[in-house]
Amino acid sequence: MVVGAENLEFLPSLPDGAFTLVYLDPPFNTGRTQRRQQMSMVRAAAEESDRVGFGGQSYKTIKGALASYDDAFADYWEFLEPRLREAWRLLADDGTLYLHLDYREVHYAKVMLDAIFGRECFLNEIIWAYDFGGRSKRRWPSKHDTILVYVKDPDGYWFDSEEVDREPYMAPGLVTPEKVARGKLPTDVWWHTIVSPTGKEKTGYPTQKPLGLLKRMVAASSRRDDWVLDFFAGSGTLGAAAAALQRRFVLVDQNPEALEVMRRRLADHL
Ligand SMILES: C[S@@+](CC[C@H](N)C(=O)[O-])C[C@H]1O[C@@H](n2cnc3c(N)ncnc32)[C@H](O)[C@@H]1O
Repeated sequence: MVVGAENLEFLPSLPDGAFTLVYLDPPFNTGRTQRRQQMSMVRAAAEESDRVGFGGQSYKTIKGALASYDDAFADYWEFLEPRLREAWRLLADDGTLYLHLDYREVHYAKVMLDAIFGRECFLNEIIWAYDFGGRSKRRWPSKHDTILVYVKDPDGYWFDSEEVDREPYMAPGLVTPEKVARGKLPTDVWWHTIVSPTGKEKTGYPTQKPLGLLKRMVAASSRRDDWVLDFFAGSGTLGAAAAALQRRFVLVDQNPEALEVMRRRLADHL
């Protein structure tokens, strides 16, 4: 299902625990005024339930200190936090959240997720490493994104490594031919090309993420016929991965261009 909506307005209509996997790739620059307005509607609900992890008081202290030091940060936090609380509510007891961010945002989001999910629910920090575009000579060129992985229940989450695509060994001469033929399990560092500007995967949507990354997450963290959710869906890459692996999906985006791309891309699955 593809839904055209502002996500925080739409999400309350979905039932608790409905999704085995939630993948989110939120924008950083979302427009300040809009965020302030949205926040006024949800502030009470968001602050009602300060979960353990830091203990309510200290999480609020960290949040307050960071917010007073940087306006852009305060806006970002106010935008993201209520949506991450919704993600937590919507996850099934065996469910997993994948939050895709870049190096400027990830450390703030880690603090936020530790507070919302609890630190014991942090499963992985996946580094997606790519090699494309210009290289700064003034610092180390940034060529990775970070995907934070949290589970709803650290003792009961679904993860099936047998379903994951395997990678070639870096030093195949050091392992048996059987192992070379099978490949090795990926680690938490995923080398994967960006969506090629000329390849057939490209939809034309500017922030499109590679299908290979999303298929890996869906394969490991959901089963056939499970429901998966992306409420910053863009070109619908999560839906394409879900369709390829026979999962059911809900994709939400407020941008009419994204909806057009998704309806075209997923026409056979809607
Ligand atoms: C970085 S893009 C996602 C790209 C996607 N992962 C893909 O592979 O194409 C973020 C998306 O979130 C959408 N978005 C931003 N704020 C939103 C909101 N409050 N409600 C719904 N969609 C929103 C934007 O329109 C944009 O398409």
